[in-house]
Formats: sequence, structure tokens, C-alpha cells
Amino acid sequence: MSRKMKNKVITNLLIERIASEGKCVGHHEGKVVFVSNVAPGDVVDVRITKGKSSFMEGEAIRFHEYSKDRIEPFCSHFGTCGGCKWQHINYDLQKTYKRQQVLDQFQRIAKVPIPEVLPILGSVQTQYYRNKLDFTFSNSRWLTREEINSGQEFERNALGFHIPKMFDKIIDIEHCYLQGGISNAVRNALREFARSNNLSFYDIRNQVGLLRNLIIRTTSTGQTMVIVQFGENDHESISSVMEFLKGRFPEITSLLYVINTKGNETFHDLELVTFAGLPYIEEEMEGLKFRIGPKSFYQTNSEQAYELYKVARDFAQLKGDEVVYDLYTGTGTIANFVAKQASQVIGVEYVEAAIEDAKLNSQINGIENTLFYAGDMKDILNDEFISRHAKPDVIITDPPRAGMDEKVVQMLLRLEAPTIVYVSCNPATQARDLALLGEKYRVEKVKPVDMFPQTYHVENVVRLTLNS
Ligand SMILES: C[S@@+](CC[C@H](N)C(=O)[O-])C[C@H]1O[C@@H](n2cnc3c(N)ncnc32)[C@H](O)[C@@H]1O
Repeated sequence: MSRKMKNKVITNLLIERIASEGKCVGHHEGKVVFVSNVAPGDVVDVRITKGKSSFMEGEAIRFHEYSKDRIEPFCSHFGTCGGCKWQHINYDLQKTYKRQQVLDQFQRIAKVPIPEVLPILGSVQTQYYRNKLDFTFSNSRWLTREEINSGQEFERNALGFHIPKMFDKIIDIEHCYLQGGISNAVRNALREFARSNNLSFYDIRNQVGLLRNLIIRTTSTGQTMVIVQFGENDHESISSVMEFLKGRFPEITSLLYVINTKGNETFHDLELVTFAGLPYIEEEMEGLKFRIGPKSFYQTNSEQAYELYKVARDFAQLKGDEVVYDLYTGTGTIANFVAKQASQVIGVEYVEAAIEDAKLNSQINGIENTLFYAGDMKDILNDEFISRHAKPDVIITDPPRAGMDEKVVQMLLRLEAPTIVYVSCNPATQARDLALLGEKYRVEKVKPVDMFPQTYHVENVVRLTLNS
């Protein structure tokens, strides 16, 4: 950024609309200005933090007018915690903006004819909708400006979420509106127990400390999994923590811990110990049971996942005799969900443990027409794979945020399945892939689904039909 631009303040900027990734935009001297943590209709002074030839980025430092669409955020952590960035915008408008994001990305990137984008399917629950939260212990609690300016000494041990863009600062969470059940009670009780027993909270910079991470998973069937991650192998302290949780919360149906002395918090390669209860929890959907182990992926808004899968199944228009490929199947939830309406479903996924879960989920539900394979999609979906299996009538694809590898898109073009249902959590990469698929497919239906109220994230389902 040129020195001239740095810290330049633009006064009285009207925030016009929402752009991608939840940022808002205004215009100044012909340039787009991206601003975070504001709402369309606000009039603000903006300090520029980044300046390029075609756009600028900045932060609001003074509000002259507040948008009439603003509402009072319900969470005391709003503004500091990065979890629910849109709490200041009413839910109807959140949905409008999310649908608009899909429209904008498709017009800008997809460059193929797009039918009318159907109304967004909102989430009935706009609070306490998540079934999984991940809290971090830290000996470096984030302090407010007032606390720092007071010059006093404060409690520095914290259990909560990372402050955006600060890997070592943790906001101490008192109440989180994202997860219901016993989640808030477990987190607060464990923090209290740890503080009063002088157990060490993790030092992220120096990578030492006993208590490292707490994961709470809940189900719509009322089950709860709690996983405590320890940074040191101190048997006595670990036992005291686990006994405390077991005694205080008999509602926990799956209580586990893991000792992780590695540099990162992921525990896919580590052994988990089941301290009490079962090593899994179970979710239910239309009478199907889905077993969720501590390492398994499951969509984090269970109720809305059911709505999303219904849209995908509806777009697939299955009659019962189709061969379906479920690409990026995760633990095979979509594959098992549509299996009754198909002759065969083949699921493919990167993570081997997820494929084991997918097979198990077919087995416990008595589903016999599924096949699952583990591997990188661009390698596994090759000519040899296709020759070993029936050609697909319908492809359901649900890739990660990065979208599909171009090699995978090229394979889909060669496979020429009559229908593709493309589920995506990132309309920008979805639009990019649609531009390529446009060579042989037309977009027939587009339906956004809101899985994450109070955030800018949007899920989008597209039905593509092979040109005749
Ligand atoms: C958005 S999730 C979809 C999960 C599943 N459809 C569901 O609804 O539960 C994307 C999945 O793609 C998998 N994945 C990511 N990259 C992959 C790749 N290159 N090849 C195969 N699978 C991949 C991830 O492990 C993850 O399970």
C-alpha cells in the first residue's frame, strides 16, 4: 500500500450493500471500499488498511448514522468474537443478502444462463443450532481496551474462541448462543474446576500446559459427546478432570479424552480414550441412524442438514432404478439418505475413517445397495473406476469450499450423467465449476439453503441437466 493511502480516513462513507465473505461496500472517488463489521445503510468514517489500484479495505472508526435495518445483537461477546458476525442484521435481511450473494457470484463468475434463484430456505432455529463447538484453553485471555487501560491485574486463563486473526488470543466465553443442551454449563463448570484446582491452561506460544481444547457435540436425540484434549500426559490431573465431568454431568453419553503433545490441535492421527459411556453418539433422520465417532464429520446444523438433503434428493428426482454417485460423501450421509430411492449408490471420499463410518451407517440401517471408496477424487474417479462400476444416472457432488478439482470437472463432462446435483458451501467456487460444466450442462434450478444463521455463510444447491 502506498504511504499516502495508509491510515487515510474517508469520512461520511455510505455503506451501500453486502459483498462476498460478509464484507460491506461503499464507493469513494470511483473506487470500491470494503468495510467489515458494518451494515448497508450505515454512514461511517473509515480508516484505510489496504489500498490497491481498483479497491480499498478499511475499518469503521466512527458511525454518523446507523442503518435502519440494524437490530440489537443478543450476545455480549458480539463484535469481539468472530462466531456470529451478522447478529446486528435482522434475520430476514440476512437471508436476502445470502441469496443475493449467490446471484452476484453466479452473474460475475458462472457466465452461463441462470434461471431464477429460488427463495432461500431459512433455518427455523436461528440460535442454538450447532451440534458441535470447539473451545480452546489459553493462558492468554484476550483483554478489552478498558481492562488494559485500567493497569490492573486480571485473570488470564480463558476457555473460549480464538479472536479473528489472532492465533494466541482467546476470548473467554460466558454464554454462547450457538449450541444448546448442556454445552454452556459444561464449558463454564470445567473452566471453574480448572481455575480452582490450579490446573494449567495451554500456552499456545510455548506449547505447554495441561488443558488444551474442549469439544462438545450434541444430537437432536439428546445425546452429548465431550472430548477433552490434554497437552501433557499428567495421569493424576487428567483423571481428576474426567472424574469431575463424569460426576457433574451424568447427561454426557460419550466422554472421551486425548493426549496431544503435537504442534497442532488436530487429533485425527491420535488415539482417543473413552473414559465413560459409548465411543460415539447417534443422530437420526427419517428413521435412519447415523453413528458419529469423535473423528467423524457430521453437518453442524442437524435440523437444517435434513432440509438440505431433502432439497438435494428432490433435485435428483430419483425414481428407484438409478445409479447414483455421491461424490465427497463424508460419512455417507447423503448416500444413505437417498439409497432407498436408487438401485445403487456409490460414495467417494478422501478420509478413510469417514468411509468406514459410511459403511457402518449403511450396515446399522440395513442398507445393502451402497458402495464406498476412499481416495482423492481426482485420482480415484478415473477410467478404471468407471469401467468397474455402472455409469451414473445421477451425480450428487458436495465438495469442500475450494470446489472441485478441474480434473474432476473434466471427468464429470466425460461421464455425461443426465443429472448432476451440485451442493456447495461456497457459491464462488461453485460458479467457477458451473462455468466449465456449462460446456454440456444447463442450470435448471438454484436453491440457497441457510445452514448458519448470524453468519454470512450460505449453502447452495444446483440442479444441472445434460444438454440433449
Ligand atoms: C462439504 S463436505 C461434504 C460431506 C457430506 N456430503 C455431508 O453432507 O456430510 C466435503 C467432503 O469432501 C471431502 N474431501 C475434500 N477434499 C477431497 C478430495 N480431494 N477428494 C475426496 N474427498 C475430499 C472432505 O473430507 C469432506 O468430507
